[in-house]
Amino acid sequence: MTYQEAMNKLQMYGQEHVLAYYDQLTEEQKQLLLEQIQDTDFSMLSSCKEKREENKKGEISPLAAMQLTEIEAGREQFVKIGLDAIKQGKVGAVLLAGGMGTRLGSDDPKGMYNIGLTKDVYIFQRLIENLMDVVEQAECWIPLYVMTSDKNHEATVSFLKEHKYFGYHKDYITFFMQEMAPASDYEGKVYMEEKYKISTSPNGNGGWYSSMHKWGIAQKAMADGVEWLNVFAVDNVLQRIADPCFVGAVIAKDCACGSKVVRKCAPDEKVGVMCLEDGKPSIIEYYELTDELANAKDENGDPAYYFGVILNYLFKVSDLEAIREKKLPLHIVEKKIPYLDENGILVKPEEPNGYKFEQLVLDMIHELDSCLPFEVERNKEFAPIKNKTGVDSVESARTLCKENGIEL
Ligand code: UTP
Repeated sequence: MTYQEAMNKLQMYGQEHVLAYYDQLTEEQKQLLLEQIQDTDFSMLSSCKEKREENKKGEISPLAAMQLTEIEAGREQFVKIGLDAIKQGKVGAVLLAGGMGTRLGSDDPKGMYNIGLTKDVYIFQRLIENLMDVVEQAECWIPLYVMTSDKNHEATVSFLKEHKYFGYHKDYITFFMQEMAPASDYEGKVYMEEKYKISTSPNGNGGWYSSMHKWGIAQKAMADGVEWLNVFAVDNVLQRIADPCFVGAVIAKDCACGSKVVRKCAPDEKVGVMCLEDGKPSIIEYYELTDELANAKDENGDPAYYFGVILNYLFKVSDLEAIREKKLPLHIVEKKIPYLDENGILVKPEEPNGYKFEQLVLDMIHELDSCLPFEVERNKEFAPIKNKTGVDSVESARTLCKENGIEL
């Protein structure tokens, strides 16, 4: 792209300031900036203006979860079905590790965080140990796909290599990178993080399958016979991954996907809950839950919207393929975005100063015809690490690990 072409594109979106430092750049930096302008989708920035109007929900009704008693009654059969699928190589696991983990406040990828007290226990290590339990039970390796981003790819890959993948077979681990999106101020003007670089941040966890496809990894997985992908977050150190019972239950119920859920600990707990939206499975975020819905009861008199998602989903690959090209809604998230000020000095703000644009994995659920909410015991399977202290923190996760007999 030439300078003039870049300027024309920027003018269309009111982003001419991106070229403000052009004359001060080296030839190589000029080239990098022009390439980035060419590759950047600026159209999403205009959504800042309609922020409040966006992502309107349809008609909400309850979606019953498979609860613990029903799971216990069917456990033997579900585990058998799940283990059979795993042994036949039909199940892969996808670790979503492309996030910035800004709330935790470490510059390293979140998975490198050490939650140990008397010994090293890294978050990545905990996840791999959990997956290893199933590898041992099924007596076969499970393909593990790790999504990183431009911001943490090198660090993630070298950390896992240095730690010999915490005992996992390296041939069964594949890395791929997600896409990035521009970050802007509240008016939708992109920030610059260098004189030759537009500020970008990972574009949310919703693009994981299309990124897997872009890297040719989804195609390879399908050719290898993978039919199900268990997608999970990096920060829940207790979750069971490729859990045979969960896999078996979703297969037995002939659903396009499954979602592990926990009973909310309070009506106003900040988790998204499973529901039907216009008759299709969906997740309603805690801030979208009206008082009426929060207090609604199902036909048994129990709270109708009480099963919170924990970002552990099982997707049928053929159904993912069918929705791969679909555009997911864009979520606009307020964040602290480092930027160059008018003097060209890098500022790291203490408070949020603009927007990041994200697509979310939970929006994929609504594209599918059926989803099984599958209850798990929260004290045994839900220890997310979002913050250093307080709710969903390193501290709370340590307490739960100890309760579950995990030495730290
Ligand atoms: P979070 O919603 O906790 O976001 O991600 P985050 O960016 O990691 O953390 P904060 O909000 O800045 O503190 C939930 C899961 O989705 C992954 C994260 O790595 C985590 O496993 N994720 C998030 C991605 O893989 N890519 C993204 O762009 C965002």
